[in-house]
Amino acid sequence: MNPAAHHAASDSGYRAEPLLDFVTRTIAREDDVLRDIRESTPSKGLPPISVGPDEGRLLHFLASACGARTIVEIGTLAGYSACWLARALPEGGMLHTIEYDPKHAQVAEKNIARAGLTAKTTLHVGAGMDVLPRLSALGPFDLAFIDADKAGYEGYARWAAENVRSGGLVICDNAYLFGNLHRDDLPSDHDDAPKVAPMRAALKLLADEALFSSCAMIPTGEGMAVAVRR
Ligand SMILES: C[S@@+](CC[C@H](N)C(=O)[O-])C[C@H]1O[C@@H](n2cnc3c(N)ncnc32)[C@H](O)[C@@H]1O
Repeated sequence: MNPAAHHAASDSGYRAEPLLDFVTRTIAREDDVLRDIRESTPSKGLPPISVGPDEGRLLHFLASACGARTIVEIGTLAGYSACWLARALPEGGMLHTIEYDPKHAQVAEKNIARAGLTAKTTLHVGAGMDVLPRLSALGPFDLAFIDADKAGYEGYARWAAENVRSGGLVICDNAYLFGNLHRDDLPSDHDDAPKVAPMRAALKLLADEALFSSCAMIPTGEGMAVAVRR
């Protein structure tokens, strides 16, 4: 099948909004606490850029599927994805989540407490590349979720490849880079221009079969790349 035919066949045309809403209600089952954390984020002066309910459930699923007890998240925002991840942890499990902006971290801390997840979550305030080297001593980790500054993805993916256990998962959100991942023609003053090379480098690393036994792009709206550490 040629690539164009493949895309036509996979876009079956019946995935209308009402069907997707039904699936979100049936499968994601975002409860009132999570919904309020997500919906109240803009009113607290933070951008509405958290993952959605389906992606939150997907993170919960992936953490559960690999039996995660220890997780590192880079990019906390208001703690929405952190709550989904921490909820997948067993008693005694720990999520380390890293946030650069102290205002975001303050909101996240309250949300995580409201969700009853403080005992399973450690919030680190600082830049990912400053905090991650300190976390290495606590590893290896079962899962790393990368969802912060896109220009930093290559460095975060390298750290994750070195600090996630065999059989653990490395997950990169926004892997389509807002539709610009494949573009070689972005004007140099385009916001995403400096992010193309680090995002491609991160994905190349995840697709490296010497390091990861399998890598897939989950076709969420933003693209979520997932790889299993060899
Ligand atoms: C897309 S948001 C994270 C959304 C969150 N994972 C969720 O789905 O609920 C990205 C976050 O990364 C933070 N950030 C940006 N640069 C960072 C850095 N160098 N280190 C750590 N966090 C950073 C931003 O302040 C922002 O809160």
